[in-house]
Formats: sequence, structure tokens, C-alpha cells
Amino acid sequence: MPEPEHSAPILEVQDLGIHFGGLHAVRDVTASLPAGQITAIIGPNGAGKSTFFNLISGFYQPTSGRIRFEGEDITRLKTHQVVARGIARTFQTTTIYKELSVLEGVMIGHRVRTRAGLFDALLRTGRERHDEAGSRLGAMRALERVGLAPQAGRPAGALTQEGQKRVGIAMALASDPALLLLDEPAAGMNPEETVNLMSLIRELVTGGLTVALVEHKMSLVMGLADQILVLHHGQKIAQGTPAEVSRDPAVIEAYLGGHAHGGQMGQRTEGGAHA
Ligand SMILES: Nc1ncnc2c1ncn2[C@@H]1O[C@H](COP(=O)(O)OP(=O)(O)O)[C@@H](O)[C@H]1O
Ligand SMILES: [Mg+2]
Repeated sequence: MPEPEHSAPILEVQDLGIHFGGLHAVRDVTASLPAGQITAIIGPNGAGKSTFFNLISGFYQPTSGRIRFEGEDITRLKTHQVVARGIARTFQTTTIYKELSVLEGVMIGHRVRTRAGLFDALLRTGRERHDEAGSRLGAMRALERVGLAPQAGRPAGALTQEGQKRVGIAMALASDPALLLLDEPAAGMNPEETVNLMSLIRELVTGGLTVALVEHKMSLVMGLADQILVLHHGQKIAQGTPAEVSRDPAVIEAYLGGHAHGGQMGQRTEGGAHA
């Protein structure tokens, strides 16, 4: 699909791939994410979606291809260097430090992502203490953006599922990214919580953020995404608007032809579109 002219890509991947032994988890993927939009990456379980994020965020080194972010080649950068360039991510399962306060959890999560090593992150060096005030402010701002500022002093474990998801997003926002990668943000949430979360994502994008999110249920992203990229067996099989992708024969085949993923297409998530 050609990109509309008004939306320059913030991220471009070319022939991107990684294999683990004989398994090509991501294979020859060429795609771009338009700035200021929501791109959903969908595909059946095992399609390579999380691996795609792991490649972009520097957790995995690709075995082929290139990644460009804001015009710069970031293919070989390490995770903390990628974070410093302006890409942040959430994880499919986020470890929330339940006994710490929401604010402290976001501060620690941020530190772990921006330091070269976990040891460095946990060791409170002099510089670290000096950074503490700035880090607290950044974490507070991130909590405001996800609507959790009033809960900053509460133990993270006391929050609802949705609240804990928001903490995970705040951890990522604390590094003030231009591009936010969300891996299955709605996993484990009920329909009402899902609608709330989708509204939050739309608000963040209205505020200037670019978002890419992974989801295996196509119905969830139909009302939210500006464009959808479909992976299947590690390869890109379609890219386009939700309407285009949902009637693409290759996509229908991928979802309905295989196994237990039937029935997830075409049902719009009410409320997801109008945040
Ligand atoms: N570190 C790894 N080592 C070996 N295989 C992996 C690794 N990471 C992912 N894979 C494999 O790559 C494929 C894609 O996985 P993943 O990206 O997690 O799929 P998805 O997120 O789309 O469900 C799976 O077959 C998975 O087992
Ligand atoms: Mg996954």
C-alpha cells in the first residue's frame, strides 16, 4: 500500500527478519508506520507480532534487514539506545511491583529501561540520586497522561487490572517517546475496560504520539487503528485500512482457514473509534 502523502513515516523497516534455528519468526517484512497514527499489527498466535516489536525495540538483533526511525538507521542499537532515540514499549505481561507505590513503580520501570544494565538500574549511584527529582517529575507526568495521578501514592497492587495496564503504559511514557509500542494492551481485560483503554490510546495519539499495537483479535482494532499490518507465519500478508484488510482474501484465509481463530473478524468494538 502506498502511504498517504500527508503522513510521513516515523519508522520504516525493510526486509526485516530473524530466525531462531530453522524457524523464521519474522521474514522479509517491509513496512512503515505513519507518524501521528495508530498502526495495529495483527495476526494469529505465533505470527511473529511480539518478535517484530522485539526487533524494533532492540531486544532482538535482526538476522536480516534494516530499521530506520525518524530517518536514522537504528538496526544495531541496544534497547536503552533505542529508548533514548524515542521508542518505548509495553510488554505482553508487565511486572508490576505490587508492594511499591504506583509512582515508585513507574520510576523503577523507567530506570530499568534507560540504563545499560539491570545492575546499573538497581544500583543507586550518586548520579542516580541526582537524577531522582527529574525522574520523579517524569513519572508524575506520565501518570497524569494515563489518568493515574490521583493514585500515585497507592500500592500498585491495589489497582484494578485496567489500572495496572495504565501503570505499564506510564512506565513506557516516562521516557517521553515519540513512538509507543503496545503488546496486546487489552489482554485480560473485560469489554468495558478495553473500551476505556482504547480511548486512552486515541487520546495519546491526539496529543502527538505515534502508536503501534499488537493484537491477535482483529475485532478489537477495527474501530481504533488507522492502518493495519497483518503478519502470518512471520510474513506480511496485508497492510491497509481496517476496511481494506478485513476484506482481503489472504487475511480471511489466515484467520479462518487455519485453526482456533475463527469468529474474530468483522465485529466492530463499539466505542473504540470515538475517543
Ligand atoms: N527467543 C526465541 N527463541 C525461539 N523461538 C522464538 C523466540 N521468540 C519467538 N519465537 C518463536 O517465533 C514465533 C513467533 O512468536 P511471537 O512473535 O511471540 O508470536 P506472536 O506474538 O505473533 O504470537 C513463534 O513460533 C515463537 O515460538
Ligand atoms: Mg505475542
